[in-house]
Amino acid sequence: MFLIAPSLLSILAGILLWFIARRWTPASSKSRKKLPPGPRGLPIIGNLHMLGHTPHRALNDLSKKYGPIMFLKLGSVPTVVISSPSAAELVLKTHDNVFSDRPRLDAVEHITNSYKGMLFSPPYSPDWRKTKKFSIQQLLNAAKIESFAGVRREEVGALLASIKTAAAGGEVVDLSEMVGELIENVTYKMLFGFRNEKKYGLKRIVHEVTALMGAFNIAEYVPFVKPFDLQGLYKRMKAVRKAKDNLVGEIINKHEEDARNGTKKGNMDFVDMMLSSKIFSSADKLDQENIKSLLFELIIGAIDTSCTWIEWTMAELLRSPGAMRRLQDELEANVGLDRMVEEKDLPKLQYLEMVIKETGRLHPPAPLLIPRELMEDIEINGYHIPKKSRVIVNAWAIGRDSSIWPNINADDFIPERFIDSDVNILGHDFVLLPFGYGKRMCPGAKLGLLNVKLIVSHLAHGFNWELPKGRSPSEMDMDEAFGLVTAKSKHLLAIPSYRLLC
Ligand code: HEM
Repeated sequence: MFLIAPSLLSILAGILLWFIARRWTPASSKSRKKLPPGPRGLPIIGNLHMLGHTPHRALNDLSKKYGPIMFLKLGSVPTVVISSPSAAELVLKTHDNVFSDRPRLDAVEHITNSYKGMLFSPPYSPDWRKTKKFSIQQLLNAAKIESFAGVRREEVGALLASIKTAAAGGEVVDLSEMVGELIENVTYKMLFGFRNEKKYGLKRIVHEVTALMGAFNIAEYVPFVKPFDLQGLYKRMKAVRKAKDNLVGEIINKHEEDARNGTKKGNMDFVDMMLSSKIFSSADKLDQENIKSLLFELIIGAIDTSCTWIEWTMAELLRSPGAMRRLQDELEANVGLDRMVEEKDLPKLQYLEMVIKETGRLHPPAPLLIPRELMEDIEINGYHIPKKSRVIVNAWAIGRDSSIWPNINADDFIPERFIDSDVNILGHDFVLLPFGYGKRMCPGAKLGLLNVKLIVSHLAHGFNWELPKGRSPSEMDMDEAFGLVTAKSKHLLAIPSYRLLC
């Protein structure tokens, strides 16, 4: 008894001292730091099991319980989820300088093998600075975008002609497929001067890379399973990297050859511009690796995002005949029925603007933006967020929050909610964030919006649309296929009938 008592006492004394030490440790010490609230996780997987098939929806439900700054553990990765405009402003504007890194994803490491472009490079790195500056100033500026108006006219004209033929035969068209091809053709012509020629297999490669980058890779959250490649992702990454490198190399070589031989025809495309940057001062000059990375990033940044936005807009318009009618009335009043829409008409189309904002609110193509990583420990709203936390901004949740979008049900497609509202689509108010905001904001927003508005206006102006097999709009399938870009899970099929006099 006497032998046990002193050791028991010393244990109790030890526990007491530990509590006292914790109680009086200065606030800056780690043990006193308060993480944002969040659900309790399981060993090893943390909260991964809570994400389900549509993580933007699952995270929205959780944030209703735990608040707009929520802390989770995705496997071993500390993660902060942001779900309100004021919290988004803190992350994307007030503290943008520390919230603007990107996580090192295995798909990026294995497919690109370098951080020489802008999409995944650390901010402030010389490669990120020069590729972003070059893209904004030289490639995606208003004058350069305008210089490709002829390409857009030609490609949109070809799409409308094939839909007109289908309309004459009463055929069902796959709008998702057709819009996808159109955006690909327009983008490829701008970037490297030719359409999606099958021999390059570009489409397959782009889809594989996007799928791998958006894939939920368990090994990144539970690292000890990595050597087993349980999902077969690492094998696919290796295979596509080779195909991608060959393809990008071939495109660049062809441009260099044309420049040497003086055989270049037509407008300078983006690859020509990138190659000509070699004459810039050394700080701004793009090297061969920058060009390869940037070219591929522009391809993957531009295509699925714009297609998805158009697909959701057309789906919502098909479900809302009143909104479609109002858009068609606006087009008739401003353009008439005896000619096609032109780019110069777009600024006059107020209702179109509201329709595009409404789809950007309900279906932001990248509902969780692109993940960021916190560069140093930070305190916000009294919470401590540790360095290297993954940061997810749930743009989808903000778009559906009924306290931000009052009066009319936030889940309903009602473009009229933007009448008398000057909410900015480029994120300035932090309530509509389809392009993100801040240092990492999308550099292609203006081009993306132009393509989306142009194509939606042509489809609504040129045709009336019905669902196949006499299905009613309320029966339309609106399920989502979650990914970096979240498209409709099933293609949008519809029957057109031509309505113009030209
Ligand atoms: C309408 C279509 C588009 C949408 C909805 C969209 C959306 C986005 C979003 C949400 C981000 C991440 C922003 C953040 O992290 O805060 C982003 C970044 C990016 N986008 Fe877009 N985008 C579109 C069109 C384009 C186009 C046309 C291009 C290029 C031609 C492009 C190239 C990029 C690139 C390179 C980045 C990475 C920027 C960086 O990390 O610094 N996007 N985009």
